[in-house]
Amino acid sequence: MNDYDYHVPTDIRFGRGKINCLKTEIGKYGKKVLLVYGGGSIKKNGIYSKVYEVLEKFEIYELPGIEPNPKLSSVRKGAEMCKNYGIDVVLAVGGGSTIDASKHIACAAFYDGDPWDLVLDRTKITAALPVFTVLTISATGSEMNPGAVISNEETKEKLEINHPLLYPALSVCDPTYQFSLPAKQTAAGCVDIFSHILEQYFQPNDGAFITDRLSEAALKTCIKYGPQAVAVPDDYEARSNLMWTGSIALNHLFTFGKGGGWSVHPIEHELSAFYDLTHGVGLAILTPAWMKYVLSDATVKRFAMYARNVWDVDDEDDRAAANAGIYLTERFFKELGMPSKLSDVGIDDSRLAEMAAEAVRTSSLSTRAYVKLDASDVEAIMRMVL
Ligand code: NZQ
Ligand code: ZN
Repeated sequence: MNDYDYHVPTDIRFGRGKINCLKTEIGKYGKKVLLVYGGGSIKKNGIYSKVYEVLEKFEIYELPGIEPNPKLSSVRKGAEMCKNYGIDVVLAVGGGSTIDASKHIACAAFYDGDPWDLVLDRTKITAALPVFTVLTISATGSEMNPGAVISNEETKEKLEINHPLLYPALSVCDPTYQFSLPAKQTAAGCVDIFSHILEQYFQPNDGAFITDRLSEAALKTCIKYGPQAVAVPDDYEARSNLMWTGSIALNHLFTFGKGGGWSVHPIEHELSAFYDLTHGVGLAILTPAWMKYVLSDATVKRFAMYARNVWDVDDEDDRAAANAGIYLTERFFKELGMPSKLSDVGIDDSRLAEMAAEAVRTSSLSTRAYVKLDASDVEAIMRMVL
């Protein structure tokens, strides 16, 4: 097992009604709150009014309209508001997009130049306002990690900003807040969680046995409860299991003692940067193709282990087991209602080469991925699912 430093400072408040803690907990930092949210789902499901009820005595400034695949222009607006109004706390109520924008706003509030500079050079991040989150969709794990993914609409870049100061101070995880999620968002969130675990599972592992076994349990949880949450949106057991899996899927627990670069995410980020695609949908399309492309004599043992331990495949032949695992993964995504072709989401071959080059340029695909990929490999993977 590799040496590993692990510190997750986010305070998690999990369960029904936990939002009530915000009054006391935000109160420790001040009175002026920037409330950040998306396109209005929180007004329809009542969370918005609940926030106002709990924070009755606070001074609330609103930044609505955070887009899925959050844009730099929203971050600029939020950072200006923090500076102009002397904001004490940023409160993100929503999903990964709202939380990511809030994290970026929180550090841009202390920076005099353009917020995009902080994405390109994280050493420019010197301070950040405390970020509180109320999570309304389980997918990204942003509620318990220091990452934020922001799209620059001018340059068509979608890049991650990652800094220890960006861990949320506290996240309210109330599974009932996800009862209002449409099936497509539930399913896309489940695929994103599944993919986060896979990205870490398919990395070299020098004896971190515990990390692989925990990952397999988390993958099985997605397989059991993803379809259940899609079918019965107010199933508390399904929502709560998915919710906790989503949070731990990307707080480095599943990479503890190992490490390496990611494979499918950097490719998907180009799809959503160029075509504003839902992140989980892009992952569902690309993941089986990536698996087929990188399966070889060098990788077959890990793929066979995945098939046997996650999907209960009992074939003794490694290659046959590996293929069965890939087939079952593809079928799982289809059963969740996800598309399986780029053409299903309106993407043709006109920009594949451009996206492939960007994916390699902006990531460690060609240097640290489980199977190193250059631009021609990435393009070939995308062509498999045209
Ligand atoms: O905007 P509203 O009206 O709130 O609607 C949202 C949005 O349309 C809706 N929604 C959320 N909660 C709801 C709800 N609708 C009804 N009831 C609820 N309870 O769902 C839609 C999607 O929301 P969004 O926040 O975009 O989803 P998600 O959490 O999947 O975030 C996606 C973004 O996060 C990035 C992705 O690339 C993408 O930009 N990622 C962030 C990561 C991180 N910070 O660690 C890692 C991930 O790999 C990912 O890249
Ligand atoms: Zn993701």
